[in-house]
Amino acid sequence: MIKIAVLVSGGGTNLQALIDSEKAGMFPSGKITLVLSGNDRAYALERARSAGIETAVVRRKDYETQDLFDNAVITVLKEHDIDMIVLAGYLSILGMPVIEAYPERIINIHPSLIPSFCGKGFYGLKVHQAALERGVKITGATVHYVNEIPDGGRILIQKAVAVEEGDTPEILQRRVMEQAEWKILPQAVRIVSDLLEKENSK
Ligand code: GRF
Repeated sequence: MIKIAVLVSGGGTNLQALIDSEKAGMFPSGKITLVLSGNDRAYALERARSAGIETAVVRRKDYETQDLFDNAVITVLKEHDIDMIVLAGYLSILGMPVIEAYPERIINIHPSLIPSFCGKGFYGLKVHQAALERGVKITGATVHYVNEIPDGGRILIQKAVAVEEGDTPEILQRRVMEQAEWKILPQAVRIVSDLLEKENSK
């Protein structure tokens, strides 16, 4: 069974989509066994507790350097024997040591159609603000593997969402979540966990 850690920082609506999908039997090869938050007040932690999933908090500000933070994250993941990592609204930067410890085993959901509106500084509402300012008619969400370039890894799944008259960043964010993020992230977790399980059984 592939042990999955979901890394969060905020409301956890993507985590909730994963919890609901797992409950619906969508992950025959994987199980969410840890929710690791970069923020001790994240509502995502409440969602994990209600679902009976173990939680941990590792805050970047508690560590002098990025390296010390990376090592703390790796220690928690190894303690839980984690095989695969899902970044779901996770806002801390993971350094190379973490990425090298989990090659092709970390995926991230980004709320735009990469390569648009991604990279440094593009997260949360800022992504939708930029899309509205540019006047795009179509936006969406992307699930990609995580490598050393922010939002730079191989793309796994994308889903398009229409921008509508009068959209505010908040309205657009909600539509992208409902119509894209909450659908393609569970799909990607299913694909990658099945793949890793097959690799393990070789
Ligand atoms: C949202 O901006 C979402 O689009 C992005 O991360 C933020 C929080 O998501 N993926 P969540 O509700 O914490 O999953």
